[in-house]
Amino acid sequence: MKPMRTERLILRNWEDRDRDLFHRINSDEQVMEFFPFRRDRAQADAKMDELRGVTDRDGYGFAAAEIIATGECIGFVGITGTEHMPFLPAGTVEIGWRLAPEFWGKGYVTEASEAWLAHDFETLGLGEIVSFAVYDNHRSTPSCNASP
Ligand SMILES: CC(C)(COP(=O)(O)OP(=O)(O)OC[C@H]1O[C@@H](n2cnc3c(N)ncnc32)[C@H](O)[C@@H]1OP(=O)(O)O)[C@@H](O)C(=O)NCCC(=O)NCCS
Repeated sequence: MKPMRTERLILRNWEDRDRDLFHRINSDEQVMEFFPFRRDRAQADAKMDELRGVTDRDGYGFAAAEIIATGECIGFVGITGTEHMPFLPAGTVEIGWRLAPEFWGKGYVTEASEAWLAHDFETLGLGEIVSFAVYDNHRSTPSCNASP
């Protein structure tokens, strides 16, 4: 994908220097509270490689978010196909996010989501983008309402 800039963030494909952070957001109990799995380092590395491949192939995906001012990777915000969810209509595209806890509460997901939605509507032309969360995951639902 071509990197995108927002006011505070760069949205870009994954790099090897992100592996520690990516493992942490896939294994941390607070981050993964509503997920039925945890990934060890090997599983996280494999998942990052998979996301990187999809993002290269499609030009969009669950991309890394990096703070411009510090160069820190904070997690991911992106859009992706849902082929692995057969209960959704074919062609459904979802928007999703997962940040390390120290970056919560700063509006980064809202900012990045707005950029992704604008990129879709103005450039990609994928049409409707859906988002869903576990019912009790209240931290995730306000971001679902992000719109450009
Ligand atoms: C879901 C998750 C990404 C939400 O993170 P977040 O930091 O709350 O989301 P945002 O970046 O949109 O920030 C919004 C919050 O920042 C605050 N904020 C601070 N500065 C802000 C700014 N400049 N602009 C917008 N919001 C700002 C808002 O008030 C809001 O806080 P509130 O919910 O207490 O009112 C995060 O909790 C997470 O990674 N959870 C674990 C993974 C997960 O559950 N993912 C979703 C699965 S469906």
